[in-house]
Amino acid sequence: MQKISKINWLLSSHKSLSISRFVYLSLYETERGYYKKKKVGEDFVTSPQISQMFGECIAVFFSMIEKNSFKKSNFLELGPGNGLLLKDLIRSVYQIKKEKINYYFLEKSNLLKKSFLENLKTKAKIIELKKFNLEQKPHYFICNEFLDALPVNQFEKKNNKFYEKRITMKNKTLKIINKKLDFFSNEFINLKNGDVLEVSPLSNLYLNKIFNHINNYGGGIIIFDYGPFLKKKIDTLQGIREKKKCDFLKYPYETDITYHIDFQDIKQKSSNFGLKAYGPITQKKFLFFNGINERFISLSKKCTSNLQIKKLESQFNRLTNPEGMGGLIKCIYITKNQLDLGYFNE
Ligand SMILES: C[S@@+](CC[C@H](N)C(=O)[O-])C[C@H]1O[C@@H](n2cnc3c(N)ncnc32)[C@H](O)[C@@H]1O
Repeated sequence: MQKISKINWLLSSHKSLSISRFVYLSLYETERGYYKKKKVGEDFVTSPQISQMFGECIAVFFSMIEKNSFKKSNFLELGPGNGLLLKDLIRSVYQIKKEKINYYFLEKSNLLKKSFLENLKTKAKIIELKKFNLEQKPHYFICNEFLDALPVNQFEKKNNKFYEKRITMKNKTLKIINKKLDFFSNEFINLKNGDVLEVSPLSNLYLNKIFNHINNYGGGIIIFDYGPFLKKKIDTLQGIREKKKCDFLKYPYETDITYHIDFQDIKQKSSNFGLKAYGPITQKKFLFFNGINERFISLSKKCTSNLQIKKLESQFNRLTNPEGMGGLIKCIYITKNQLDLGYFNE
């Protein structure tokens, strides 16, 4: 007999669940969770799944900002999924710098292809991090579509009162309800009636630890994620199921659930740690300034048929198209150091 899901069990004993709890269970509940069953790329495609050029450009970026050697620092990728970015980045850094790097990763699912770890042994020491305990040295943190996959809560101001949006079950259907808040934090003060504030406690936790580490030991964090330059105070939660947008409540455990990242908020939080943020800029701009054209030309010379060239062109277009991932995904780099990254702020 199939066990009752944790979401149903909790809703049978509690009036409501926070959105973040619902999202967490829906994505990561043992055995049932979306990321426990699905492969990255099944319902949505990320940049490393499209082409090796993505990871190669990030390798160029890091090799340019770290003029000397990576010997005194570590890389740490958060949420690498199946590990394609890790593979392309390590291979490419090795080609540029001719040195073996330390590459840590923190991944909740078991999607990472173990063969990558074996094949990259001569180019990097790859270590899975089970807990967020870091060595006391500079780290280069990498997050591609990681923060938007973390659970989020929503709050709304209506008639000058503050509410938390929560999830309840009515007639076997999941619904959003508003629960009035008696206490609220400073973040709520500037909200106008009708505004929806999205807060990810887990994202804040990770970012605080990372900013603190960069402030103490150096390094930096590069983030690629969906989100506008200036996020409006609106509901951006969405479900993706079978490659189509859907109501995230409709199919628990079957839907990828994401929201839009607030880059200005991340910038503000990093400045509280004395860090400097470069960007956000579009993914397209980042890739162009870090050599995607040159990579395209070099790879196209190795193509042996028109079909291969067409495939490469299509990958290039998907990564850089301003109407698609090239424009919708933004990139930000945060560090303590003053860097010559003019193109980030033009
Ligand atoms: C949208 S996928 C992106 C995967 C990969 N970065 C890519 O670009 O293909 C988000 C990844 O973050 C992982 N993840 C989510 N929450 C996590 C957490 N708290 N700790 C570690 N990994 C997490 C998920 O398992 C998933 O692999």
